[in-house]
Amino acid sequence: MNRTLLIIKPDATERDLIGHIISRLEKARFKIVAVKMLHLTGQQARAFYAVHEGKPFLDALVEFMTSGPVVPMVLEKDGAVAALRTLVGATDPAKAECGTVRYEIGVDIQKNSVHASDSDENAAKEIAFFFDNVGV
Ligand code: CMP
Repeated sequence: MNRTLLIIKPDATERDLIGHIISRLEKARFKIVAVKMLHLTGQQARAFYAVHEGKPFLDALVEFMTSGPVVPMVLEKDGAVAALRTLVGATDPAKAECGTVRYEIGVDIQKNSVHASDSDENAAKEIAFFFDNVGV
């Protein structure tokens, strides 16, 4: 079994889509092994997206990610990272495949409803960012 991190973003919590997203994850046979709800500070959002330092969209991304509550969770499944990225779809909902979470509920490239770790290495870092004592 492998683990990965998903964050339900403020555009989805605002539209009351937490249950819908969790239902999609469970139907796709991801096991939720940790979950919480919090409101990120600007410092936390910037630290989480440190890999995007210098990108033109970073300031707007930080503003968006601090605009409302987020729901990070640790998910378990065989090949979790790749399986979750397939389920959530492309970063830009306009380019996401039909049937993916972002195709279905994403608003635009920023308000794309969910974040999913892009590698096992980043999954380990991102899980540790939000959860103590939850390994990969
Ligand atoms: P996420 O998968 O969380 O990773 C970085 C986030 O930056 C991305 O989803 C989007 O919410 C946001 N973003 C905004 N503009 C862009 C862009 N042009 N390219 C990539 N990500 C973007």
